[in-house]
Amino acid sequence: MTRSDDSGEDSSSRPPAPAEAALHPIAPFPRGKGAWLAELRWPGKRALEGIADAEASLRASFGPPGEGWRDRIYEGENLAAFGHLLRAHREQVDLVYIDPPFDSGAEYAMRIKLRAPGTELAKLTLEEVQYRDVWAGAEYLDFIYERLAALVELLAPTGLICVHVDPRQSHRVRAILDELLGSLAFRAEIAWRLGNGAKSRSFVSNDHNSLLLYSKGTRWTFEADSPELREPFAAGSLQMHFREIDAAGRRFRRRKVGTKEYLYYADEGKRVGSVWTDLSSMRANSPIMAETTGYPTQKPESLLRRIVSAFSRPGDLVLDGFMGSGTTLAVAAALGRRFVGVDRQGAAVSLAIRRLLSGEAPAGAFDLYALRAPEPVSTPSAGPSAPVIRARLEADRLRIEGFEPPRLRSLLEARGLRVEDWRALVDRVSIDPDFDGEVLRPTLHDLPGRGERVHGEYRLPPLERGRPSRGRLRLELTDVLQRRHMLTLDR
Ligand SMILES: C[S@@+](CC[C@H](N)C(=O)[O-])C[C@H]1O[C@@H](n2cnc3c(N)ncnc32)[C@H](O)[C@@H]1O
Repeated sequence: MTRSDDSGEDSSSRPPAPAEAALHPIAPFPRGKGAWLAELRWPGKRALEGIADAEASLRASFGPPGEGWRDRIYEGENLAAFGHLLRAHREQVDLVYIDPPFDSGAEYAMRIKLRAPGTELAKLTLEEVQYRDVWAGAEYLDFIYERLAALVELLAPTGLICVHVDPRQSHRVRAILDELLGSLAFRAEIAWRLGNGAKSRSFVSNDHNSLLLYSKGTRWTFEADSPELREPFAAGSLQMHFREIDAAGRRFRRRKVGTKEYLYYADEGKRVGSVWTDLSSMRANSPIMAETTGYPTQKPESLLRRIVSAFSRPGDLVLDGFMGSGTTLAVAAALGRRFVGVDRQGAAVSLAIRRLLSGEAPAGAFDLYALRAPEPVSTPSAGPSAPVIRARLEADRLRIEGFEPPRLRSLLEARGLRVEDWRALVDRVSIDPDFDGEVLRPTLHDLPGRGERVHGEYRLPPLERGRPSRGRLRLELTDVLQRRHMLTLDR
């Protein structure tokens, strides 16, 4: 059975799904109490009539089955995902974080390593373009305007939206947010210093990004005492002011303001303001850093940890509509928030799933939905150009014997390279030992660490007691380009 309506909730408690191509209404602007001081106009700007509804189908389900909320990832166009989410989750999102294209005029490639430890191939870095950030005229403004309007509809009355941009479009995006939410909804513009050291000689370098924070209403979450909202005191300040030590051995400073006395502890650090200089982008982009996935423009977990900790609470729903490699999702899961992530790049989705399965605090139950027709999958009988997985099943053992993903093979052939060990091409293996013919529900994962390889041979877990076997097994191999390939075997 294909589940085309995915909310995972009791259908009787949900409003009926609008008919095909129906529009979800958009409330009149501005939503907040702020005066509408100005409106940004651009050539061809359209009045927004509504957000088109869209179908999504469940493709894969991770973690234990169960009733109630399940976190989720949508693979496909985000406006469609927002339209789909509006069916059952209007005004339910507590924190929206988005890191959309910035109108940079560039295209972005992922860095890819083979898993061939100890060989020359391990030194090779392949590149594959993931997305283009190139726009003509005012296209970018149309794009961001519609998506922000949809996100505002999804935002809870007490929710916050954090839009990550850079100085190329930050002023226009801010004007759009003023239009959608009212100028009094503006909470802060945070300057995040990238800290990547790049400085130009031709003019002043733009070495910061802006985080535009708006609230939907007059109440919002701000966890002022979160340790994530602290940075170390400057060395000079520590030396000059922190001269006392308490009974527990902690260095502190006493400060009198009027009749009140305040104590500051060196190890607690100081509260950050609206300029964040202590979270280097290199953590997410340097190949030697553990959190680097190779996905272009990946943001550091420390940045998302600060945002999610400060502007949401445990149990809150966090939505990232341009999730890339899934940084927000991984952080939200680790901090006990519920999450929804969206991206149209298959590689982004694969990386996000990997991070959720292998993170410090692996995510609980989450599902993958597709907003477009799924890509064809390989089968043993598929044609000669199809991806080929060769695998053998003997009693409760599965042995993978070969794997030739065509795109990867052609990339390697273009460089005159041949790879003998198929495991060098595989990033991870997932197995659903009792495939229902529709939805992948893997219970066994082989997720090698950096520089390691998958095992290739697996003892299958026993089926749930008392349930007859469906007689089929589904094997998913994700190659190092983060493309997923499937094979179904009869048991
Ligand atoms: C700057 S990256 C996000 C990086 C992410 N913050 C991370 O830490 O990895 C922007 C992402 O938005 C995705 N994207 C751009 N336009 C989209 C659209 N219309 N629908 C869905 N995803 C989109 C791109 O595929 C890309 O992965």
